[in-house]
Amino acid sequence: MGHHLPDRVVTNHDLSRLMDTSDEWIRERTGIVERRFVDEGTSCTDLAEAASRKALDRAGWSVDDVDFILFATLSPDLYFPGNGVLLQTQLGMGHVGALDLRTQCTGFVYALATADAYIRSGMYRRILVVGAEVHSRGLRMTNEGRDTAVLFGDGAGAACVEAVDGEGLLAHALHGDGAHALDLCIRKPGLGSSPFISPEQIEAGDTAPSMNGREVFKNAVRRFPEVIAEVLEKAGHTPEELDFLVPHQANARITEAVRSRMGMPEEKVASNIHRYGNTTAGSIPIALSEAVEAGQVKRGDLVCLAAFGAGFTWAASLLRW
Ligand code: COA
Repeated sequence: MGHHLPDRVVTNHDLSRLMDTSDEWIRERTGIVERRFVDEGTSCTDLAEAASRKALDRAGWSVDDVDFILFATLSPDLYFPGNGVLLQTQLGMGHVGALDLRTQCTGFVYALATADAYIRSGMYRRILVVGAEVHSRGLRMTNEGRDTAVLFGDGAGAACVEAVDGEGLLAHALHGDGAHALDLCIRKPGLGSSPFISPEQIEAGDTAPSMNGREVFKNAVRRFPEVIAEVLEKAGHTPEELDFLVPHQANARITEAVRSRMGMPEEKVASNIHRYGNTTAGSIPIALSEAVEAGQVKRGDLVCLAAFGAGFTWAASLLRW
């Protein structure tokens, strides 16, 4: 695992100078205290490159060892092509395939499950799985955008995935419900309606996230425990056997509701939302990478990764670290 966050720290107080919000409101509702924003000139692919180089280094792989790239992001550098090929070139790789995944907060878990399936099928041996976001350029730093602008941050995480003898990735569960697509989305640029994008649509906030916060919250607290139970059951494990849970970092209140419903102690549940906000596809690999670095996740631990987000999509992976 490897992760990378931009250096620039943006506090709730900083945001309260740009829009009508407060440190107290943000902390109470979300647990977020600060987040990281990129400086001008840094792209989502740049963050991904830094995280990938750390992961490659820790795995003892050279860039030539990678057979395939899976890149999860909702904030790509370009409308097309996707960030996968940009990362391949920036890392100085050969002409390996690169696939971009668009499932937002569940992007890393979907990508991990995809990597597992490719490796089990024998199609690839070594896959670089990346989740990265630059949200800061797409948020509306105004009163109209305050309900979402305070939630998100920039960052990237990466994993080197290869076959192992014995246990590794044990089970995955991937779900979606498109009936909720508009409860959390960015409408433009999109070709579902005309025009591609207009000044009026930008003014109306169509290029920034729009969210039905209560619907997201309600569904998240239901789907997290459900999907965690599903992967545990698939792999023949009980919740009591779980050593560590890495939930997508969307909101400390969601994490707390899931943790207490599962009866897990705080030290067994990853939480870095106060420092980084919601980094969407970056959230789980950053949290897992930090937990490994801090010794919270040790060799042989039973670890569950679980996410819920736009789509709606929800997903979990169970693994033996
Ligand atoms: N600062 C201050 N006030 C704000 C604000 C901000 N940044 N954003 C919204 N408000 C205001 C609202 O306008 C509303 O004012 P009103 O009562 O005068 O209309 C008030 O705060 C309450 O808004 P509400 O939306 O009811 O708050 P909430 O208790 O539902 O909390 C969220 C809002 C977003 C924190 C909460 O719904 C949530 O966490 N949802 C899940 C979001 C999420 O995790 N998204 C990512 C999923 S991957």
